[in-house]
Amino acid sequence: MPSAQTLFHTQEVTIAPLTPVVDRNFVDDVLTGLALPQKQLQAKYFYDQQGSDYFDQICQLPEYYPYQTELNLLPRVASDLADSFSSDCTIVEFGAGSLVKIKPLLSTISNIRQFIPIDISGIHLEMACQQLQTDYPKLAVKPVVADFCFPVDLPALDHQQKIGFFPGSTIGNFCPAQAARFLENARCTLGPDSCLLIGVDTKKSPSYLHRAYNDADGITARFNRNILTRINRELGANFNPENFEHYAFYNAGQGRIEMHLVSTEQQVVDVFGSAVAFAAGESIHTENSYKYTPDEFCQLAQSAGWQVERSWLAEQDLFATYLLRNRC
Ligand SMILES: C[S@@+](CC[C@H](N)C(=O)[O-])C[C@H]1O[C@@H](n2cnc3c(N)ncnc32)[C@H](O)[C@@H]1O
Repeated sequence: MPSAQTLFHTQEVTIAPLTPVVDRNFVDDVLTGLALPQKQLQAKYFYDQQGSDYFDQICQLPEYYPYQTELNLLPRVASDLADSFSSDCTIVEFGAGSLVKIKPLLSTISNIRQFIPIDISGIHLEMACQQLQTDYPKLAVKPVVADFCFPVDLPALDHQQKIGFFPGSTIGNFCPAQAARFLENARCTLGPDSCLLIGVDTKKSPSYLHRAYNDADGITARFNRNILTRINRELGANFNPENFEHYAFYNAGQGRIEMHLVSTEQQVVDVFGSAVAFAAGESIHTENSYKYTPDEFCQLAQSAGWQVERSWLAEQDLFATYLLRNRC
């Protein structure tokens, strides 16, 4: 198959410069969010290729306890569940990232035949899948690049039992009402007789939380600012990321870490043809990370039609994993 360039050359036509395809949902979400009294951007837009790479770096930081704590807990979870699922089951992972946390499950639960990782960060997912397929040659790996805020169409499946897997406390990026909607959608996606294994960060001392989202090397700050770089590149905006300061704190009333980008000066930024004005000190709210006590999370899961079957708490109650069963 000739490249587009070769094809045009041989046909000797004059070609207008190619305009990059703009994701209309991205434009609408960004412009709507920046028009709110408290400006905001949705956390899912952190994850272009660079954002996924920054997230992997965050996972290696000593301050960012959720990653390693959950990773240490999963072998125990996997061995407790080794014989719990029907033969030839399928695992569907939501927000699969670099596919590290699935490995303790794949290595211990022997009857997983098929793995469907879902992620919005397409190139990152494809690369991680190639490596996983090499490590687990008998496993059918079927990646799906999709936004899990909406119901996801899975590849055609036979009547295998489906186990959802949602680690990383990514559920905490949703406010509780959105989290309940996600859990309801997941029940539809996974179908009857399904389970969902989900990792959820716990409430703990604000200073411990503060440290996790304000690392000494400033990687989380780079991850946060990268959303502006992405908007510049994909939507032709002219943010100067250096004019925005990373700010993360625990909002005890809401039970969440909030991440913001604070404008260091009065400025006007052009975003896809709209002038967006910032006062000095005004912030863009870029992420929430809700923390749940076990009681709070069990209530949330039950309200969305899941029954809490088992739970595991990590050392010092730093993190929790729950096995939910579809009640329908
Ligand atoms: C906090 S990271 C967790 C990664 C990995 N599961 C872990 O536990 O280390 C969130 C992951 O979810 C993906 N993600 C975020 N929002 C998403 C969305 N709306 N739809 C699909 N994937 C999403 C990101 O690309 C990223 O890989």
